[in-house]
Amino acid sequence: MESSRDPAAFREFEHTGWETASRGYDQHFARLTRQTVPALLAAARVAKGKRVLDVCTGPGMLARAAVEREAQVVGLDFSGKVIKIARRNAPDAEFLEGDAQALPFDADSFDAVVCGYGIIHVPNPEAALCEMHRVLKPGGYLAASVWQSPAPTNGFGLLFGAVKIHGNLDVPLPHGPDFFQFSEPEKLRTAFEECGFADVAVAGVDQIWEVAAPLGMITAILEGGVRARGLLLAQTEEVQGAISATVANGIVQFRSADGTYRVPMPALVGSGRK
Ligand SMILES: C[S@@+](CC[C@H](N)C(=O)[O-])C[C@H]1O[C@@H](n2cnc3c(N)ncnc32)[C@H](O)[C@@H]1O
Repeated sequence: MESSRDPAAFREFEHTGWETASRGYDQHFARLTRQTVPALLAAARVAKGKRVLDVCTGPGMLARAAVEREAQVVGLDFSGKVIKIARRNAPDAEFLEGDAQALPFDADSFDAVVCGYGIIHVPNPEAALCEMHRVLKPGGYLAASVWQSPAPTNGFGLLFGAVKIHGNLDVPLPHGPDFFQFSEPEKLRTAFEECGFADVAVAGVDQIWEVAAPLGMITAILEGGVRARGLLLAQTEEVQGAISATVANGIVQFRSADGTYRVPMPALVGSGRK
């Protein structure tokens, strides 16, 4: 698995990014990533009475849904600002500040672990996945989601396609692992197996990001994204304008009868048993 070549700087970039984007993420991205919640909870076998850890909890949508299934839930995130929002959204879960790569729990502590779009944000995803394996009880399941690869028919394809046409993907940001390194089913499966998981399964989840205007996706990324936002802001103003215009043009194909734009944002959910 690829890791950051500059883990301290990349972690700092991510941490500052999430402290800045916490409200925007809750406002724009949460209504998209909430669509992955049922698949993640089912794949991790979250049920009444189970002790569940939600790693990289963000606004706490997985934690909240697990509480609604009468599980005992702990959510973990490295951003204090994010944790405040999670506590408000999921008052019956417990939340802790901590790093996904060094989980502050004993081995064999949880019946289930879930991680929504977290492993694509840490400097060392292998450390994070192996930590999730360590804290699971034998027989417990991990379920983790990532985005599917960019394609002309999905939102990330439009965005990265436009950056390739007008701008530069190789910008002077702290080096992070490839954002899409787990975005093919075989790659996600291999990552789980490398950390010792058995019965590994990978499933696609079709999701739709509904935006009110052609520029809605760019606004959401600028207000609630971290890595994609950094990539956009590292371009010149002129290039940013050209990228926005190309993305907005591309989004017109997803216009629905009610006048909103329904952008496909498919995910993968990987799961495995300790
Ligand atoms: C893309 S958001 C995912 C939020 C939520 N799980 C979801 O499914 O929408 C990633 C979250 O991971 C957190 N995060 C990033 N790096 C982390 C790290 N090294 N340790 C703990 N949390 C981290 C961020 O603060 C952010 O809240």
